[in-house]
Amino acid sequence: MLWTIFLPLIGLLILLLMLFSCLTRRREKNEPPLDKGFIPWLGHALEFGRDAAKFLAQMKEKHGDIFTVRVAGLYVTVLLDPNSFDAVINGTSLDFSHARNKLLERIFSLKLQNIEPTEERKWMEEHFKGVSLNELSSSMNSHLRKLLLSDQAGGCGKATEWKKDGLFSLCYSLLFRAGYLTLFERRDNVATVYQEFRKFDSLLTKLARCSLKRGERKAVNSSRERLWELLSPSCLGGGFESSSWQRSYHNFLQEEGVDPEMQKRALLLQLWTTQCNSGPASFWLLGFLLTHPEAMEAVKTEIRGLTHQGDSLKRPPINPLEPHNTPVFDSVLSETLRLTAAVMINREVMEDKILRLVNGQEYHMRKGDRVCLFPFLSPQMDPEIHHDPQVFKYDRFLNEDFTVKDIFYKGERRLKYYTMPWGAGKNICVGKEFAVTAIKQFVFLLLTHLDIEMCDPEGKLPPVNPSRYGFGMLQPDGDLEVRYRLKRTQHKI
Ligand code: HEM
Repeated sequence: MLWTIFLPLIGLLILLLMLFSCLTRRREKNEPPLDKGFIPWLGHALEFGRDAAKFLAQMKEKHGDIFTVRVAGLYVTVLLDPNSFDAVINGTSLDFSHARNKLLERIFSLKLQNIEPTEERKWMEEHFKGVSLNELSSSMNSHLRKLLLSDQAGGCGKATEWKKDGLFSLCYSLLFRAGYLTLFERRDNVATVYQEFRKFDSLLTKLARCSLKRGERKAVNSSRERLWELLSPSCLGGGFESSSWQRSYHNFLQEEGVDPEMQKRALLLQLWTTQCNSGPASFWLLGFLLTHPEAMEAVKTEIRGLTHQGDSLKRPPINPLEPHNTPVFDSVLSETLRLTAAVMINREVMEDKILRLVNGQEYHMRKGDRVCLFPFLSPQMDPEIHHDPQVFKYDRFLNEDFTVKDIFYKGERRLKYYTMPWGAGKNICVGKEFAVTAIKQFVFLLLTHLDIEMCDPEGKLPPVNPSRYGFGMLQPDGDLEVRYRLKRTQHKI
């Protein structure tokens, strides 16, 4: 009986929803295929947030390399042909700042509208490249070494006894703490900042997508406030070291007219930008080495080749600060990042414009829409570019003569962008060189100082947490249990 009342009502509701959907936007001539989804306004927001890689792969299958989807009231044109990426990366009338500022406000409760993007970039380049890079890398190396050895010596057991931990915790904790000590130069609260940061970071994607539950909102707000306080110089009484990176950032914000409250909040943005990627990247790299013995052996052979003959007991076999030719390690890192770096490059269309693809097709873009590149899907996981893209092949970026393999094709065309973990164009990662050096230092240090193995010799890498697509380095859903101890014969690998 009830059915006879409810069925027509449900039918009517569905009809109304479809009508609403039709009355709103339609695809015009010369526009990319439009997929609005069935839910008014929200469109595909839920699928996008749950697993963007899966959702966009389905859309690519249905519509090809360019399409427009509705996501929470926005119309987003997704371009998945890497040969045409320059039309977006270097395109005109496409803005980066507006959407970024909105996101900063949502995640970090931060308003930095007054800052001139070119000035900010100039400041960053001064501090992460050139002379500063050598100083930062040297400080990072010394912190990594001290932390690794003091962590081993700490606890109740002997340093040479096996310890157990999750590989993700081990890598994230060490790289975060060393990075914090290098850039923020505060010894007293490093452990607390790390713990609080992990809480904040675990809810960050939900915060960005406005999908927090009530309890989670409270937790993330309280973590954020705690971190603002912990990072604030006044919290320590003594203020900054006069020459520190943090002091210089503070001066820069002041010169740009940022008020003291926003200056305090901006430090959390810097902490996140500089510390959230290297730890996860090192986890995946070591995880791939541990689960692929042939790759581990190739890296170890390369490190052995760097050993100074005859005096290996007196000094470390390699000085990670010296420039070394390490083509095998470099290929392992590129392959790791190909599989686990998933940035989304977003631009806002500032006025109606034409987007020209390399195949000659032209598409009309509407003012107010977004354009998005998702290099993880293509080029990084594109089977037309990388054979067996799901498989980790340590020598994928290595030629037979041990030079870097950088020639890849899609169709007949050679690719400029065959992997894009660092983004591209004006906003390419400014800390790339520092990050590569830090990851290399960390892996070399670990392999030369520790015996490390999986607790379960048949163990597998955990799957990725699908909610993190679009936020830089992916993180695992779970961990890989490992055991490790200080080597008895130091530096013998
Ligand atoms: C594996 C490690 C890392 C990866 C994969 C990575 C990736 C990226 C990507 C993709 C972007 C561009 C984001 C966009 O276009 O929206 C970016 C920006 C940035 N990265 Fe990294 N990053 C890493 C490590 C680091 C480190 C260690 C630092 C500094 C110590 C750093 C500093 C920055 C800064 C300051 C920006 C902003 C650049 C700008 O807005 O112009 N990154 N990073």
